[in-house]
Amino acid sequence: MVTELTYTQHLFAGTRDELLAKINKQLKPKRFKHVQRVEQTAIKLAKINGVNLEKASIAGLVHDYAKQRPDEDFIAAIKQYQLDPILLDYGNAIWHGVVGAELIKHELGIYDEDILNAVRHHTTGAVYMSPLEQIVYMADYIEPERDFPGVDVARQLAETDLAKSVAFQAKHTLQYLVDNGKPVYPKSIDTYNAWVPRYPNV
Ligand SMILES: [Fe+2]
Ligand SMILES: [Fe+2]
Repeated sequence: MVTELTYTQHLFAGTRDELLAKINKQLKPKRFKHVQRVEQTAIKLAKINGVNLEKASIAGLVHDYAKQRPDEDFIAAIKQYQLDPILLDYGNAIWHGVVGAELIKHELGIYDEDILNAVRHHTTGAVYMSPLEQIVYMADYIEPERDFPGVDVARQLAETDLAKSVAFQAKHTLQYLVDNGKPVYPKSIDTYNAWVPRYPNV
């Protein structure tokens, strides 16, 4: 069942349909569907964890807002908004969250820092993540079309012990990066250290 919230909290200056229309312009159909599944998953996890449903809806919908922007847009934004220049060493995988949050703020007029942090941290996680941030991080990982070994364990954990599910993702994502010789963003290691030792057997 699809939950279509009516926005009343002025976190975005418009209706959910108006937000959807703006996101639709930025994304190819496949990714537009993905963000709507992440929204629905985030709302489900927000209900379980007593988190603001409207924030879950908006954060889920906008989390990949910048995913299909050209590199030049991110490089310009890193300079314009004086973000950490170390970001220039990375690419879209990191930029669309950390830098994407700035584009969301300035282009969509969404200023809620909890929502923006959920976008910033949805790929790498973070040492401290609010319940909303944890929800978006997990919803992106377990939305219904995700299919990887362990996804059912991740889904089960996310619905029963959100923090433990964050540890699960942090561990398995780092493991995947190492196993495949892919670069690891230093903050992902910080995330690992902050979350995984709390649940050594996850
Ligand atoms: Fe993403
Ligand atoms: Fe995503």
